[in-house]
Amino acid sequence: MADEESRLEGPPRGGPRELEGGKGGKAEAGQIENVLALGRELVDPLPVAITVYSSADIAGIRRASKVAAATLKEVGARLRPGITTAMIDRWVREDTRLRGGKPSQLGYHGFPASVCTSRNEVICHGIPSEAVVLAEGDIVNVDVTTEFEGFHGDTSKTFLIGEVRPAARRLVEVTQEARDAGIAAVRPGARLGDIGAAIVACARRSGFDVVAGYGGHGIGRKMHEDPHISHVARAGTGLRLRRGMCFTVEPMLTEGSARHRLLGDGWTVVTADGRWSAQCEHTVCVTEDGVEVLTCPE
Ligand code: MF3
Ligand code: CO
Ligand code: CO
Repeated sequence: MADEESRLEGPPRGGPRELEGGKGGKAEAGQIENVLALGRELVDPLPVAITVYSSADIAGIRRASKVAAATLKEVGARLRPGITTAMIDRWVREDTRLRGGKPSQLGYHGFPASVCTSRNEVICHGIPSEAVVLAEGDIVNVDVTTEFEGFHGDTSKTFLIGEVRPAARRLVEVTQEARDAGIAAVRPGARLGDIGAAIVACARRSGFDVVAGYGGHGIGRKMHEDPHISHVARAGTGLRLRRGMCFTVEPMLTEGSARHRLLGDGWTVVTADGRWSAQCEHTVCVTEDGVEVLTCPE
């Protein structure tokens, strides 16, 4: 049932990812064997529940992804010095609504905004604020996740504000190259670890570090589903990719060390050394012979 939605059931693992997702189609005996095999391939010995989506469901995830991509593009075009990250939040909320979607992040585990805005030394999960005013020379990641007709799409980009120093421009450029190298490793039969291995190789070649504590995630009927997609991994390790799996690739690269700490607001992740970080993200699905990027703008 390669093209039927199915869930490979397993006991929950710890961590923030929720295991629901998919309509819970029946797993066949062969698939249960398969998930046990997958479990043995993981570093974490417990099998995880991964939804294999049907073409009809992927069409839904694609539609949600296009809406998220359109909002990101629209809002990104408005950025310039003097804009506050609270304005970005209002724009994302409004633009998402106009397109018939809902911001997936608003209220997620209590997250107080519709979008994450992560500037300069902020690695991810920055909370929009009236007090954060974009200035010439800043870099800012805008991370849009949209729910549309029951499916989610998740995409982010790091924008340059005016004239940015060359080393930070390079960081942003290489982060995108690293994401695309990770995506290029996705095909049926490849291992999850191939993605992180490609990302690390790309980042290291240019002298950047990769954040290990946060990663991509399965996506579809929920914003965060299993599996966790590590951006720092070894090739040939981890579970085997199958057609119909949908997940994000969203590496965070740092100019200095990738060590990080969490601010007192419980969300904002910053570099420990205060040097800058960039991120970019696509939602992808495994196709019959490779990968489709779902969050490309139309
Ligand atoms: N869009 C983020 C991601 O890429 C989700 C952040 S969760 C939030 O996975 F609650 F901080 F919004
Ligand atoms: Co995101
Ligand atoms: Co994501």
